[in-house]
Amino acid sequence: MKKLYCLIIFSLITIAGYCQQTNLSIIPEPVELIKKDNFFLLPRTITISTDAVDNAAVEFSASYLKNRLKSSSDYDVNISSESDNASIQLLINKNPENQLGNEGYSLSVTTSSIVIKANQPAGLFYGVQTLLQLLPKEIESNSTIKNTNWTVPCVEITDYPRFGWRGLMLDVSRHFFTKEEVKRFIDDMARYKFNLFHWHLTDDEGWRIEIKSLPKLTEIGAWNVKRVGHFGEFSEIKDNEPRTNGGFYTQEDIKEVVQYAKERFVEVLPEIEMPGHSMAAIASYPELSCTPGADKYRVISGEKFIEWPATGHFYGLKDNTLCPANEKVYPFAEKVISEVAALFPFPYIHVGGDECIQNFWEKSPAVKALMKKENLKTMLDVQGYFEKRLEKIVASKGKKMIGWDEILEAGVSPTAAIMSWRGTKGGIEASKKGHEVVMSPTTYVYLDYMQSDEIMEPRIYASLRLNKTYSYEPVSEGINEKLVKGIQGNIWTEQIYNFRQVQYMAWPRAFAISEIAWSPSAKKNWSGFVGKVEDHFERFNAAEKKYAPSMYDPAFNVTQNAKGELTVSLSTEIEGLDIYYSFDNSYPDHFYPKYTSAVTVPMDATLMRVITYRDKQPVGRMNNMPVAELKKRVAKKK
Ligand code: ACM
Repeated sequence: MKKLYCLIIFSLITIAGYCQQTNLSIIPEPVELIKKDNFFLLPRTITISTDAVDNAAVEFSASYLKNRLKSSSDYDVNISSESDNASIQLLINKNPENQLGNEGYSLSVTTSSIVIKANQPAGLFYGVQTLLQLLPKEIESNSTIKNTNWTVPCVEITDYPRFGWRGLMLDVSRHFFTKEEVKRFIDDMARYKFNLFHWHLTDDEGWRIEIKSLPKLTEIGAWNVKRVGHFGEFSEIKDNEPRTNGGFYTQEDIKEVVQYAKERFVEVLPEIEMPGHSMAAIASYPELSCTPGADKYRVISGEKFIEWPATGHFYGLKDNTLCPANEKVYPFAEKVISEVAALFPFPYIHVGGDECIQNFWEKSPAVKALMKKENLKTMLDVQGYFEKRLEKIVASKGKKMIGWDEILEAGVSPTAAIMSWRGTKGGIEASKKGHEVVMSPTTYVYLDYMQSDEIMEPRIYASLRLNKTYSYEPVSEGINEKLVKGIQGNIWTEQIYNFRQVQYMAWPRAFAISEIAWSPSAKKNWSGFVGKVEDHFERFNAAEKKYAPSMYDPAFNVTQNAKGELTVSLSTEIEGLDIYYSFDNSYPDHFYPKYTSAVTVPMDATLMRVITYRDKQPVGRMNNMPVAELKKRVAKKK
């Protein structure tokens, strides 16, 4: 009797301690997934076996899995080359399975074992990522959870990526992020099967990579004056303000980050911006300019120095360009590209090429002389002249050139790859002309854009909601599909002052990009995706990582009726939310008026507060919309 009593108690404790993943929330969605009814209970001592002894890349995946399990649980975890008694096996296929390619994997979870197979180590790593997402969210915790009884649902998965280039870009120039932060960013990318980290290393606000033959680039070019507020509108910087804000990566740091990324099957694409966006270089070496007075220029801190008229072409108040007519520029580029090429094993170097201001070139006698000599008709031709010489330098270092889509307009050889950012047009045209393209259009994948109404987000030029990102199809009409290498989301950091905000801007939109880049387009399913995003929010909570809850914020649409009253329509991008609102300045909850159709703003009201709920629980943030703002929007529409 006593024995039976003990058994019942033990069973109850065990059942209570089980931690199961209820939904299968795998991001990016696998190609084929069959869920079975049962589950695998992780034993107290977990053995991970790998048959590819002495293969560092395979061993990395085994130790990565071990570390992830050990950092959040109290399991004993061993790695062995023997598969007997192994709970988790990582196997390289002796006979490669064609459909898996270099990055695909199969994952089989039965009640007795977990087996991941792949043709190449990268596939095993991605199989490990999927397995980790099948474990309970507590696996994401950074502290040990005691008495874990974790289970993995039984599944059969076959999975491989749609595109070979699955990228995210981080701008470390506008605001500097430390080597450790960059590694964290890369680690998060790898968890969602991104394989390309585009490192935007130079711009007007900072030169971030040590170039040993040009020391002033980091002695001077890496430092500006710290300001907060609205970047681009900071007041003029005074000469006596300390230039101590910023930083740079030594070449040893760069090697460390490249190695860290490589272990996680992430390639690193360095970007060195030329000929525009080069104020940090000009401030360091003013002789690279054609503009008199460039020796007075300083690294930009976020004060305005370019005009962006709503209509018409942008122009500079200061000249931030390397001058194509200045022969000192080419040995400079040669030195920089030479050192960069030696540091980054990736076959491409990104040379920028976007948003090159021309108004100083128009005034330059040196540029005029170059145009005459080379029979160049326009300023774009002048940029094209520069790009062609630059491509020769890049090629001489054994690398391929990639640049923003302006370099296509300027004219480059078909061997240059194009990153299409000004919508999709540049990518479509480039592919028709035989260029490789990476699709990175502002309209879908610019992760610096606001994620909901601008009253809720740090202000920047445009908005891009999660559902719009998710709707993106890179193989659009007219494009030469064979030349689409893949897609990439970009995080420009003008308005991003710290790493928590980088996370906020990246996630969840980067979940959507990871699905577009990896999963078959036929698997697209918005409501299913939203459910998975919410599960991954829970994972981020467990990991104490930041993400944007903006998908819960309503969209405001304001009009004016015949009586002159303002009428507000609200909508949400996700289904099943209840919206409650107030006009009396108090904070609405689910006892307040529920939004059902357009509401009229009461006379004298100054504020509309809105919040979203699901099942009587608040899910969204309090959105506080000033009536003055609604009036402004109506006036703009007129
Ligand atoms: C860019 O966003 N200016 C490439």
